[in-house]
Amino acid sequence: MASSKQVQVTACILWLLFLTLPCSSSTESLYQHSLVVGENATLGLSHGMPVGKSPSSKPGASVLCERVLVYGLSRLKHLDKFANTVKVKISTTSRFQTFEVCFHRNTSRGIGMCPDSQWEKVSKGSWSGSMSPFEHKLLAIRTAGSSLQNFEVFIKEEFFLSRLIFFVSGIVLMTLAPYLSNSLVFYYSSGMTIGVVLVILIWTVLG
Ligand SMILES: *[C@@H]1O[C@H](CO)[C@@H](O)[C@H](O)[C@H]1NC(C)=O
Ligand SMILES: *[C@@H]1O[C@H](CO)[C@@H](O)[C@H](O)[C@H]1NC(C)=O
Repeated sequence: MASSKQVQVTACILWLLFLTLPCSSSTESLYQHSLVVGENATLGLSHGMPVGKSPSSKPGASVLCERVLVYGLSRLKHLDKFANTVKVKISTTSRFQTFEVCFHRNTSRGIGMCPDSQWEKVSKGSWSGSMSPFEHKLLAIRTAGSSLQNFEVFIKEEFFLSRLIFFVSGIVLMTLAPYLSNSLVFYYSSGMTIGVVLVILIWTVLG
């Protein structure tokens, strides 16, 4: 009994520490293009900046680069959004223009300077990625085409009910842990459930 109380107290302390993690808020103004989660939905890009030495682009060739800061929310002020995910989408009206995307967190990187391996090639005119509503991420775009003006960036918040359900059932299980750990019914029924799930898994893998 005493040890499960200790575990609960430790979990509460860790949770509080996690909630009070500092969240920097001074990067926003440094970027020409930014989208704020919960405030902006779309952003059209401008012509783009020519960059001569973008990693792995052809030597001597210059590519057009642009980047957008997606600015997240403060975790403390928006506790209600913990089950959300932010979908980030790029689309272009010229469907045959190929471009490359690098979605990263490193704010000290120059425009178009993502390492070789992090660029993702897009050839179907649209790209999408996702991030937490509480982080800040940079979306870098580069193309060998003539302009980035027909590009648009969208952000959209999506709510995941399953996260809320897991969160609530986790809390309920934690709270009931001292009783459940002494309950034979729980012991046998969870044992049976795991057994049945394993049998089904093995069945589907072998069959
Ligand atoms: C995003 O929204 C804020 C506040 O509503 C506004 O000041 C800012 O100009 C918007 N940014 C863009 C790129 O539309
Ligand atoms: C961030 O980018 C800078 C400049 O490209 C690089 O020197 C640094 O190692 C990067 N940091 C991380 C954590 O990748």
